[in-house]
Amino acid sequence: MIVIVDFGSQTTHLIGRRIRDLGVKSEIVLPQDAFKSIKKLVPRGIILSGGPASVFGKDALLVDKKIFELGIPVLGICYGLEVLGQMLGGKVAPGKKKEYGPAFIKITAGKPTDLFENIPNELRVWMSHFDQVVELPKGMVGLGSTSAVKYAAFADENKKIYGIMFHPEVHHTQYGQQVLNNFVIKICGENPLLGTKKIEEIKQYLKKEIGNNKAVCALSGGIDSSVAAFLTNQVIGPNLTCFYVDTGMMRIGETDEVIDTFKNKLKLPLVIINGKKDFLTALKGVIDPEKKRTVIGETFIRIFEREAKKIGAKILVQGTIYPDVIESQGTQHSHKIKSHHNVAGLPEKHGFKIVEPLRMFYKDEVRKIAAESKFPPEMVTRHVFPGPGLAVRLIGEVTEKKLDILKRADKIVIEEIKKAGLYDQIWMAFAVFTGIKTTGVAGDERKYGELIAVRAIESKDTMTSDWVRLPYDVLAKISERIVTEVFEVVRVVYDITTKPPATMEWE
Ligand code: XMP
Repeated sequence: MIVIVDFGSQTTHLIGRRIRDLGVKSEIVLPQDAFKSIKKLVPRGIILSGGPASVFGKDALLVDKKIFELGIPVLGICYGLEVLGQMLGGKVAPGKKKEYGPAFIKITAGKPTDLFENIPNELRVWMSHFDQVVELPKGMVGLGSTSAVKYAAFADENKKIYGIMFHPEVHHTQYGQQVLNNFVIKICGENPLLGTKKIEEIKQYLKKEIGNNKAVCALSGGIDSSVAAFLTNQVIGPNLTCFYVDTGMMRIGETDEVIDTFKNKLKLPLVIINGKKDFLTALKGVIDPEKKRTVIGETFIRIFEREAKKIGAKILVQGTIYPDVIESQGTQHSHKIKSHHNVAGLPEKHGFKIVEPLRMFYKDEVRKIAAESKFPPEMVTRHVFPGPGLAVRLIGEVTEKKLDILKRADKIVIEEIKKAGLYDQIWMAFAVFTGIKTTGVAGDERKYGELIAVRAIESKDTMTSDWVRLPYDVLAKISERIVTEVFEVVRVVYDITTKPPATMEWE
């Protein structure tokens, strides 16, 4: 097994998941417990994760230096590389240029290194840092540079200690899995085990957590809650009741699609709740995105409580997946990015025992489970939609009028992307109501109207994403249709930002 020391990166758990993909076990430990845990677990390798701290700041997080003397191979990633640089006698300093998102690394190692075996000499990687190592520790040799970082990779191959500034665990880093494979299998000498039997493990967990009790599951129409409900239904049968709350912040036609899928295709017991009034009332005057998220989380749970009481259920099954947990601050040293409505958006007091069978999984793993469970194919490939719905795609106060404009614009985006045959290649595409008023001219008259932004992105695991290079013709058609068919809109812009530094949703 491999020990991962968690310095609080958004992607620490993803490193574990990538190692799981290699068929190897891993365990995440905290920096302050690292030495003790490593002595106990006797891993074949140690990975130091990234993290938001600075090695020379007041809040610097370091490890007991003795872990470098155990003869166990070490790989430091991003902040983990800086920890190596600082603790082994080099020098770390603030960089002149921040690197967030894509960068190109050139492998400069004079001789072939095991870490970069079967990897080209130049690759596009994903970075997220400010500090950098400016002087190498004794015995370390530089292995690669980017335009902003001289020592973007280094190693002491005799001691099998390696540092890389980029994140090999994220999908957007080219050959990232190969780098991890080289470290885990080649350098640490791990043996891949057979793949874990995920579905059976999830079912056993559900049996243990729910037993003979009644449970409710809130369906959003998305794949995560659908898979959670489907597997729970297989384990507890009629003891499960599914709710679908129409928040009024769904896309056009969405509620009908959900009813058709669950009632007719998956044959799950479904209760439809009209929550539109509850949500719009609760969101009155709310502008701050984090406040919106908590208000929505709370409104959902109060509706669930009300409905669950009617059938005497005290267990709530949620389709939470790991990225929801980590972005809502799921580990000791990580920063909060946003409160996903189903995690940090939950009020402290509620009357449920929460059961989250998918909490440790990523979206692409959930999609695989769905495909293996014979879900209708259109569900497996359906674009992701956030639990808080259009509220986080509408900047400013949510009102019925703004929602209506956004829904009509969003429908056009999806229609044109489907027409162009691009829907299945995209993680998600949508319109954003930016809340910015802008000047236009229509029929020779001045028109002061809304600005709609269009976003289309691709991702695999939610942690990073790139914007889709939509053909100009498709963008042109989307823009043309929105400004002519959605009368209130005078201007359309396309969002060309990666994650990081932007998140996928605008709020
Ligand atoms: P961000 O915007 O954080 O989005 O880059 C990552 C993915 O998560 C979805 N998302 C949510 N899903 N509840 C959800 O169920 C939420 O509160 C929430 N916030 C974001 C988002 O649509 C994207 O697919």
